[in-house]
Amino acid sequence: MRQRHSDYMLWAKTQSRANFNLATSGVGSFPLRDLPVTIDQLEINGDSTYGYAPLQHAIAKKCGVDPDCVVAATGTSMANHLAMATLIDPGDEVLLEQPTYELLTSTLFYLGASVKRFARSEESGYALDPAEVRRLITPRTKLIVLTNLHNPSSVLASESALREVGDLALSVGAHVLVDEVYLDAVYTDTPEPSYHLGPEFVVTTSLTKVYGLSGLRCGWILAEPDLARAMWRLNDLFASIPAHPTELLSVLALENLDYIRERARKIVEADRAGLREFLATQKAVSSPRTEFGTTAILRLARGSVEDFLTRLHTDFETSAVPGRFFGLPNHFRIGMGVDTEMFLEGLQRIGRALKTV
Ligand SMILES: Cc1ncc(COP(=O)(O)O)c(C=O)c1O
Repeated sequence: MRQRHSDYMLWAKTQSRANFNLATSGVGSFPLRDLPVTIDQLEINGDSTYGYAPLQHAIAKKCGVDPDCVVAATGTSMANHLAMATLIDPGDEVLLEQPTYELLTSTLFYLGASVKRFARSEESGYALDPAEVRRLITPRTKLIVLTNLHNPSSVLASESALREVGDLALSVGAHVLVDEVYLDAVYTDTPEPSYHLGPEFVVTTSLTKVYGLSGLRCGWILAEPDLARAMWRLNDLFASIPAHPTELLSVLALENLDYIRERARKIVEADRAGLREFLATQKAVSSPRTEFGTTAILRLARGSVEDFLTRLHTDFETSAVPGRFFGLPNHFRIGMGVDTEMFLEGLQRIGRALKTV
């Protein structure tokens, strides 16, 4: 039986809420009133076939690519599903990082992939290690899948490591899918999309996590033009025609992206400073220090994470994501970038709960 559900998504949609919600992964919502838009700029129906031309051009400009390489999709979620469904057949061998975002795993299982996991080990600070890929790759490998920034750790993969993984993929005729939904949270010297490293790279991303624009569902895939065309054709079976009002709003958002990103950056950076202080004083948890990103993965030194998170929720009104969703049962993930006051209070509450572990 193929997998037809995501345990993480069920948990996130039904269990993650709390007054001090640190179970987030993206920045806080950007309000519509702060976008320079009037009602006469919106319309219900529009000319969207294989993309809406103004949106295709705006995404292509942001990414420094030709519009023929852009496949618009409903969030990174649909971008991932569409990209993987185009690239693999049931039974194909896929190498997937461990730990990773649970939806990548469950979607690959749904698609019938034969999944092998390459480690991004805690000991190495969750770094992308091409040697691990080399150890597992075979002539049957069709796809290598990873996140950059890495979810859950927010670690940035080096360009040289990505290139090495790309070379390994090329050597067996495979592709590398890089989910870059968090990459723009590298606020200084933001790397270019890894699509620029070579045609073996396929990139997925969106305006959700780093920009607070999740409701627009403005996501996309970057792929070489023949592959992009194949993805558009498969998309006819999935989503066919997108919602036009969000295409219009997405074009406006892309025109104002720097402003939208800077607003969130201040919150993310204040939260990260708070997290650093917290980690420096805590012996009961440890985490690799990262410079970027909106999530951090923390190891609980002793005791059961599930018991700890239940108590954190009921006694301290604070939520965090159980590490079991990443195959890390001794860990939990927290999110930054929503509201610094709430984040710092949530950390305090985690600190108080840790005293009783
Ligand atoms: C790595 C990763 N990819 C994709 C998504 C989903 O992104 P979107 O909201 O754009 O569909 C998430 C959400 O948490 C994520 O962590």
